[in-house]
Amino acid sequence: MNGHIPICLRVNGQAYELSLDPRVSLLDCLREHLDLTGTKKGCDQGACGACTVLVDGERINACLTPAVQCDGVEIITIEAMAGHELGTKVQQAFLSHDGFQCGYCTSGQICSTVAMLAEHRHGRPSAVTEDLTEPAALTDTEIRERMAGNLCRCGAYNGIVAAIREVAEA
Ligand code: FES
Ligand code: FES
Repeated sequence: MNGHIPICLRVNGQAYELSLDPRVSLLDCLREHLDLTGTKKGCDQGACGACTVLVDGERINACLTPAVQCDGVEIITIEAMAGHELGTKVQQAFLSHDGFQCGYCTSGQICSTVAMLAEHRHGRPSAVTEDLTEPAALTDTEIRERMAGNLCRCGAYNGIVAAIREVAEA
């Protein structure tokens, strides 16, 4: 008995049968057990957003999530964005607007953007939404607030905001 727990992880439409130490984070599981290294480790403590992936369509920090808690949910990582309708548009807009420099934060930014646009479409307010009775326009202030959990050490924020604005307005 090694204390490992059997789980079935569904990532990018593929099922993986694994036996994991319950202390393994989803981030380490993706990178080290499944060789899906597009998801990046920045801080490993929930502060930078580099590890953002989608779980049942919601954005989460994979570094804070035990992999064994993800048994049976649908996980989408940056590797699947090329075949994802909205993800493709977001990636193209990041390219068009120079929304990255070193690219280390970019996979997290793109996953976060895809979920954020869905949150906005469903009428969810942000901390800067003033009128909670109306759907908020996706202004630059709204975009910056809704993306505040994704840091970029290169400071590519202007390009990131322009890219998100373009996709939101399309
Ligand atoms: S690596 Fe997960 S939030 Fe920074
Ligand atoms: S592009 Fe380098 S950290 Fe964001």
